[in-house]
Amino acid sequence: MTLPNVTVLYDENRIAARNHSLAVEIAATNPERLLAVAVLKGSFMFAADLLRALHGSGLEPEVEFMHVSSYREATVSSGQVEILRDVQSDVRDRDVLLIDDILESGRTLAFAKDLLMARGARRVLVCVLLEKPGKRAVHIDPDFVGFTCPDVFVVGYGMDVAHAFRQLPFIGHIKGLG
Ligand code: IMP
Ligand code: MG
Repeated sequence: MTLPNVTVLYDENRIAARNHSLAVEIAATNPERLLAVAVLKGSFMFAADLLRALHGSGLEPEVEFMHVSSYREATVSSGQVEILRDVQSDVRDRDVLLIDDILESGRTLAFAKDLLMARGARRVLVCVLLEKPGKRAVHIDPDFVGFTCPDVFVVGYGMDVAHAFRQLPFIGHIKGLG
């Protein structure tokens, strides 16, 4: 079911096919003692599907969650990132796959990657479902990108606007919004 004011950008079939090819790309890097870290909340649906695809590609990742909040809208604290929930596993000498929904300014992922590297991770590979080009405020190169996305506000497949639309099985754009 689609919604009258939502335009579909990436449908379920396209997302599923991309998840499988991403898993093949990730497996080709031969990760060791792999810990997948899903960045909450927006990546939960993508991470769930990607993890099952990784299983299909023969990987056996452990799974953790991290919830960070960046103050993108605040003028004063802009650029600051706060940890709301941290990973509980020791990442020392492990390969970590950081999974997030959208790479935009890069602040969230640059912060999380630096933190995990500082804790002694062997490699931190960054996998994002969507990348919005030309929006980067800090330098970070994602290792795996699902789709390069037009610069519009997207929802669905875990992503929200004001807590709504996360449940949609596809990625869409709300008419009249960004
Ligand atoms: P940044 O890369 O630190 O700027 O943060 C990217 C985060 O902003 C994503 O993980 C989303 O939570 C949020 N975000 C950015 N663009 C969108 C959008 O179009 N829809 C929903 N959330 C977005
Ligand atoms: Mg996010």
